[in-house]
Amino acid sequence: MPVRTMLLLCFAPFVIGALHGCGGDDGGGDTSGGSSLGECPPDSTAQAEAGYQALQDQCVPCHLTTSVGASRINAPEDVNVDDPASVRAEAEEIFEEIQIGGANGADGMPIGVKLSDDTIEAIRVFLACDAAK
Ligand code: HEC
Repeated sequence: MPVRTMLLLCFAPFVIGALHGCGGDDGGGDTSGGSSLGECPPDSTAQAEAGYQALQDQCVPCHLTTSVGASRINAPEDVNVDDPASVRAEAEEIFEEIQIGGANGADGMPIGVKLSDDTIEAIRVFLACDAAK
């Protein structure tokens, strides 16, 4: 089967929102590019580091394990950028949300802000490389 057809078969379930893609997990540990996060590029340590930092800078105070009550502003309890297990579990959801962004009332993240393309790409690289570990 041509690689492109296989990729389409892998991606289609994500598009329709059912997270039963290739391998049956949510992309964790999949280095083949079968997740919506795409590839972890070679020599991307610095970019991944910038992506990690952007998450720590941009998603506060709402998505921290230490943030409770009013400062959490109702952010879901299972999305915490300072908790590596949470970031891995929510990686694809995080990437989807920041691609949409929250500018002009859009339904993405961060609320009210659309991150720059460079920052979105850095976060993608961090998530893809982290998931590949
Ligand atoms: C000002 C507070 C605030 C900031 C900053 C913020 N979020 Fe959120 N986030 C929320 C709230 C409130 C929700 C729940 C309501 C919603 O989904 O819109 C949420 C939901 C989410 C969800 C779950 C969406 C879903 O449909 O289940 C993800 C993933 C997420 N945020 C990621 C992020 C990331 C990544 C950042 C930083 C780049 C970020 N958020 C910044 C408040 C925030």
